[in-house]
Amino acid sequence: MRAKISGTGSALPDKIVTNDDLSKIVDTNDAWIRERTGIMERRVSDEGTATSDLAFIAAERALANAKVTAEEIDFILVATCSPDMLFPSVACILQDKLKAKNAACLDVSAACSGFNYALAVASSFIETGKYKKILLVGADELTKYLDWTDRGTCILFGDGAGAAVLTATDKNDGIIASWLKAEGILGNSLIMPGGGTRDPETKNGRFIKMDGKEVFKFAVRALETSVKEVLIQAGKSIADIDLLIPHQANIRIIDHVIKKMGLPKEKVYVNLQKYGNTSAASIPIALDEAYAAGKIKPGDLIVLSGFGAGLTYGANVIIW
Ligand code: ACO
Repeated sequence: MRAKISGTGSALPDKIVTNDDLSKIVDTNDAWIRERTGIMERRVSDEGTATSDLAFIAAERALANAKVTAEEIDFILVATCSPDMLFPSVACILQDKLKAKNAACLDVSAACSGFNYALAVASSFIETGKYKKILLVGADELTKYLDWTDRGTCILFGDGAGAAVLTATDKNDGIIASWLKAEGILGNSLIMPGGGTRDPETKNGRFIKMDGKEVFKFAVRALETSVKEVLIQAGKSIADIDLLIPHQANIRIIDHVIKKMGLPKEKVYVNLQKYGNTSAASIPIALDEAYAAGKIKPGDLIVLSGFGAGLTYGANVIIW
């Protein structure tokens, strides 16, 4: 028994913030941001919209596309590092909104790698027969944790949510391999220090702090390593990939790695120019868009690869 994705959905805030908009509040410009990151604009949620609100819209769309009702869901997993509050979990808040009363609920904290981590956890539960229908969501609103005077971070991130419904399959499709890893030793290069037990009163600020160069070097290594390792597990090669959906952080990271791997650009899905880095939401949003655009067909071999705070990284191989 394997887990397969039966339906996807996504949700993005309406408000678009362009690079020119950012150049009015911080010392930057459109040309620099495009050239150094590939990002042209991002979506920013308003004050009244919490992570679970975006997660709810994405989840409803995924359930409708999968033709699964909320009550059929056994387990809700939400990958997020920007929950509505420390507890209850976003998964529990989402359960209540969806009226998915039969589900167990859990948040997965692995930042931008969260969707790959949650997909590996969810598919294992289905493979063991413990659960049959799982709702998986990647949702983040990192713009609420940005220092809008720090041009090294505030240009990078956007808000969003993506969701997938996992069901059991006994055919030759579904998630055929998962590979996960973390390097806690590099954790300080990307942190959100305030708000936890180390600093409950957020004396150190509640903003994302990043050593961009260190994370960039890690990201290039993480993307390449995770794709190679998960393909070895799947018994496949780079040439077998029909579509790679990498975490949407920076086009230079993606371009560098696919060139080194010899993977043509047509086989890589990129939408970071529209949304920036939406953290745990980036891969499920891209998956939903790619499917809707007809870029994913039955039998295709899809690789999802993410990297982020922790530092964490991981990948999954799906036969669609
Ligand atoms: N606009 C204009 N100039 C800028 C900006 C900006 N927004 N940011 C930096 N600069 C300047 C710097 O001050 C520096 O100027 P100097 O040479 O006069 O000192 C110059 O541009 C180069 O700065 P670098 O920091 O070397 O720029 P770099 O090419 O490394 O790009 C960036 C910075 C985009 C942040 C890059 O390092 C990056 O993408 N890092 C990876 C981030 C990432 O992928 N995170 C993923 C995980 S996120 C998660 O898990 C939550």
